[in-house]
Amino acid sequence: MVCGTYYFIPLPSPSTSILPHKMTLTEQTLDKQDGKKKRVAVIGGGVSGIVTTKWLVQEGHQVKTFEQSSAVGGNWRYIGPESSTDNTNADSEHSSCYKNLKSITSTSYMSFEGHRMPKNYGKYPHHTKIFKYLSDYCNINGLWNYFILNTKVTAVRQTEGGYNVTYITGGIEQTESFDAVAICNGHNSQPYWPKELMAGLEHYTGNVIHSRAYRDPEQFQGQNVLILGGGISGRQISYDVSSKASYVALSSRRNVRGSEIYRGKPGWHALAKFTRSEVEVLPALGIAPFSEKTVRFANGYERDFDAIIVCTGYKNSFPFLDQDTINSIVRLPPRTENPAYLYLFKHTFPVFSSACPTMAFIGMMDVADSSMFYVADVQAKWFAELLSEKTTLPAPCKMQVETDKWKNMIEINYHPMVINSPTLFYEDVQRVTDQNKPKI
Ligand SMILES: Cc1cc2nc3c(=O)[nH]c(=O)nc-3n(C[C@H](O)[C@H](O)[C@H](O)COP(=O)(O)OP(=O)(O)OC[C@H]3O[C@@H](n4cnc5c(N)ncnc54)[C@H](O)[C@@H]3O)c2cc1C
Ligand SMILES: NC(=O)c1ccc[n+]([C@@H]2O[C@H](COP(=O)([O-])OP(=O)(O)OC[C@H]3O[C@@H](n4cnc5c(N)ncnc54)[C@H](OP(=O)(O)O)[C@@H]3O)[C@@H](O)[C@H]2O)c1
Repeated sequence: MVCGTYYFIPLPSPSTSILPHKMTLTEQTLDKQDGKKKRVAVIGGGVSGIVTTKWLVQEGHQVKTFEQSSAVGGNWRYIGPESSTDNTNADSEHSSCYKNLKSITSTSYMSFEGHRMPKNYGKYPHHTKIFKYLSDYCNINGLWNYFILNTKVTAVRQTEGGYNVTYITGGIEQTESFDAVAICNGHNSQPYWPKELMAGLEHYTGNVIHSRAYRDPEQFQGQNVLILGGGISGRQISYDVSSKASYVALSSRRNVRGSEIYRGKPGWHALAKFTRSEVEVLPALGIAPFSEKTVRFANGYERDFDAIIVCTGYKNSFPFLDQDTINSIVRLPPRTENPAYLYLFKHTFPVFSSACPTMAFIGMMDVADSSMFYVADVQAKWFAELLSEKTTLPAPCKMQVETDKWKNMIEINYHPMVINSPTLFYEDVQRVTDQNKPKI
């Protein structure tokens, strides 16, 4: 069967390697003969795909990591303003990174096991440093040969022995079989446009963009700009835009106090740098219709805006999965069409998984007041070790009971996909791993 092309990324080779031995694909193929080494397709070369590739390779599995764009890095790869709205280009299709983006999570949880982010990056580094960290991690762990770039996965179909993965590379569609699949396509790139908001804006004639397409404040020079949505994107972008716009308002259906935008609140340390006072906080939008550039708010206040930046978040999207798999994992919490909750054991495995799971979802969650890097690292290592049969998963009925408990909590608390503590997550996975070690 024809395999996709391996593309080599023109980055300098690392001068030192922390790995004692970098396994080649040939060695892996030989190693596979022991039966515990699997052929694994990784979909996506962002943070999750990179760290998953690392652990699978370290466990001696045969890995191919498919990345639709021309380089790895996912959301931490900045694509300039010229192409940010060109959805025909795979490089611009994905990343929501903007020019002045810095991390809001501290580097201590943005580091992978064995490779800390350098101290001189500061506590909340600019996106260029995070991208550099990811490139360095690939260098140090000898990962470049496993990435198959410019290759978009279009279908994953379950077969008797594993999966057929179909992908398009160089305009040609190919299908290859694998024992297992890691789904690492990210959940912060498909814009969520709430229906009711968009209906209200039907007659609005100003410029409307989603935060995914926001790149820099220059394009809003001297304008009156409305930011819709009081999440992190809404708060950070309102601050960023206010450096160039003449007036900025943030409309939130929740009670976002001005002080939270300017000075931050406990746990939102990076927001503490906000010193500008130009951002006015307004209530949610009112009932349509709006006319031309006039927007009406729930309290009856009306004002003209030249542009609106819709910061209502992102939605999960698994266009390559069949409908049965999607139905079994994607649940919507009550009262909302977004975000969807993924019905996965420990945010990672479909509950129908066998003891040695063949499908894993890595990085499909947010971590309250912390970063997803650490959690993705734990998930990836767990998956790689399960495939090597160093440990097993609990029986599906047990996984279902635990996952149901979590689901019920979400329905009450309304916090889909959020992990409260990365260290508790680690301890929890460790407990499951220890309890399910195969008996020798
Ligand atoms: C504006 C913004 C700021 C953020 N700031 C922080 C922060 O400060 N700290 C933090 O911890 N997190 C932050 N996040 C969350 C961020 O998403 C994660 O840090 C991280 O980038 C997620 O990595 P990922 O690999 O799971 O997904 P992504 O980074 O989205 O990578 C997914 C990769 O999969 C590829 N792909 C998708 N579909 C296919 C396909 N069909 N075939 C092949 N390849 C495919 C994409 O091209 C992409 O490279 C932020 C997110 C946004 C949007
Ligand atoms: N490093 C950084 O500086 C940075 C910058 C941007 C984003 N991020 C990260 O990127 C991820 C996504 O953040 P996000 O802010 O884009 O998305 P988000 O966290 O999902 O927030 C979306 C916001 O939109 C609001 N909203 C949704 N539907 C609405 C509707 N119909 N009407 C009015 N408001 C509506 C939500 O309100 P409710 O809360 O009421 O639902 C919420 O405040 C997060 O992990 C975040 O940490 C980081």
